[in-house]
Amino acid sequence: MKRIEELIEELHRLREQARLGGGLERIEQQHKKGKLTAWERIEILVDEGTFIELDEFVQHRATEFGMDKVKYLGDGVVTGIAMVNNRPIALYAQDFTVMGGSVGEMHAMKIAQLYDLAMKLGIPVVGLNDSGGARIQEGVDSLKGYGEIFYRNVMASGVIPQIVSIMGPCAGGAVYSPALADFIVMTRRSFMFITGPKVVKAATGEEVTFEELGGAEIHTSISGVAHFIAEDDKDALMLIRKLLEYLPSNNMEDPPVVKTGDDPDRMDYELDNIVPTDPTEPYDMKEVIERVFDRGTFLEVHKHFAPNVIVGFARLDGMTVGIVANQPKVYAGCLDINSSDKISRFVRFCDAFNIPIITFVDVPGFLPGTAQEHGGVIRHGAKIIYAYSEATVPKITIIVRKAYGGGYIALGSKHLGADVVLAWPTAEIAVMGPEGAVEIIYKKVLAKAENPEELIKKFTMEYRKKFANPYIAASRGYVDKVIVPHETRPLIIRLLKLISSKRVGRPWPPKKHGIMPV
Ligand code: HXC
Repeated sequence: MKRIEELIEELHRLREQARLGGGLERIEQQHKKGKLTAWERIEILVDEGTFIELDEFVQHRATEFGMDKVKYLGDGVVTGIAMVNNRPIALYAQDFTVMGGSVGEMHAMKIAQLYDLAMKLGIPVVGLNDSGGARIQEGVDSLKGYGEIFYRNVMASGVIPQIVSIMGPCAGGAVYSPALADFIVMTRRSFMFITGPKVVKAATGEEVTFEELGGAEIHTSISGVAHFIAEDDKDALMLIRKLLEYLPSNNMEDPPVVKTGDDPDRMDYELDNIVPTDPTEPYDMKEVIERVFDRGTFLEVHKHFAPNVIVGFARLDGMTVGIVANQPKVYAGCLDINSSDKISRFVRFCDAFNIPIITFVDVPGFLPGTAQEHGGVIRHGAKIIYAYSEATVPKITIIVRKAYGGGYIALGSKHLGADVVLAWPTAEIAVMGPEGAVEIIYKKVLAKAENPEELIKKFTMEYRKKFANPYIAASRGYVDKVIVPHETRPLIIRLLKLISSKRVGRPWPPKKHGIMPV
């Protein structure tokens, strides 16, 4: 055999060894757990045949605890670049078959190096996490490795989109890299927690399972840590492909326009009858969204968390937009602590990545109660104001029904820099709801009245007639246009095209950064 042939053979052998990760037996165990391997996941995620692996022969340098005897090529993580929907991304996939996908010094170095490349290239990073956390045998070197990853998560924030899927364990400090990313997709088999069930038992006596502590259902509905729940690995990977379609590759680009075939001039006359005549009756804001935006393009984010508001991506004549809307079906669409976090985070993401924000308002105010006040609803609510004020992307607001008090101001009002505010004729814009207002304004009259109930009814009707309409706000220039609901789609498409040249310099006045009320 010629020398070159031997060398090529050796290279193939090494590559094959690297691809086998922890070996056939562990791959089988991985499959038995209902999970795919790192390589199988990559194959589903990327456009066929486009993946180019980097750092494939990296190995750990640890010697303690018998580590000098175990060497795996690649050190438990596959990294590289590939195409998704014909656009480049950087990706890493942790290999649980290699020492439980644990993160040692070199494993972390591969991820950090990938981030450095992605930031230079201006391409998104997708992380597929399946790991037992810091590699215990490597001690402080694995902590250093995590630190280096976290630092890059922060440096990349707002520069390139970061999407992480949790596909197995994600324990301890390991949670912070996904937490610093923009979107987390959790499979039903995955879990995330800072302190595990054993620690919880020792500290509090409470007995909990992995799922009860930090399973996908908990994090997508209660904690809000994760944005999407996926049935299995394949479902998660297809979701990531879909999400990437809406996003630009970096903060210097506009999001891609994908023609949907939906007529930009389509008018939906059903919209005229969606808002019930009774102002206390709920309706489904998702129906408004489905009817206004390009059909079938709405991708809801944080669907199960704070469902009193809706956020997500959709398309208007193919253009990506971010939607923020109250949901009158849940808590009458009130704002609260969780919905404030949900909205402000989403608005900041859209602003960082040049995605115009369309806001649909039907807000009776903030949710009352000690739980909210003691939980800091003031601090959390302030984030919405901060995020909208700071956002320089095109902002169009449509007041559908109620826009009361702080909710009116916070949710994309003209006063916080909305470019165009529209209102349906059903809009009611006031300092507060008629019932509460009447009780305060007519307190003395009502105290002396023989039949206060009657009077309350009368005063409420008068108040509603006087203030609960869009015309006073329109007369001041706070509402630019009162529109017939069925005109909404064609009008906002035309508007979006007309205001896309928007340029606003930030930060102004010059500063390092503001102090967001976190
Ligand atoms: C080294 C690890 C490891 C780790 C798992 N393994 N986690 N090796 N460091 N952190 C190894 C196991 O020893 C085992 O090797 C193989 O991976 C598979 O693990 P199993 O336990 O057999 O798998 P499973 O039953 O599915 O359980 C998975 C698990 C469990 C729930 C993740 O392994 C576990 O609890 N691991 C420890 C998790 C943890 O406490 N990590 C440290 C958190 S502290 P063998 O060869 O025996 O098959 C932390 C701080 C980070 O992360 C701070 C950063 C800022």
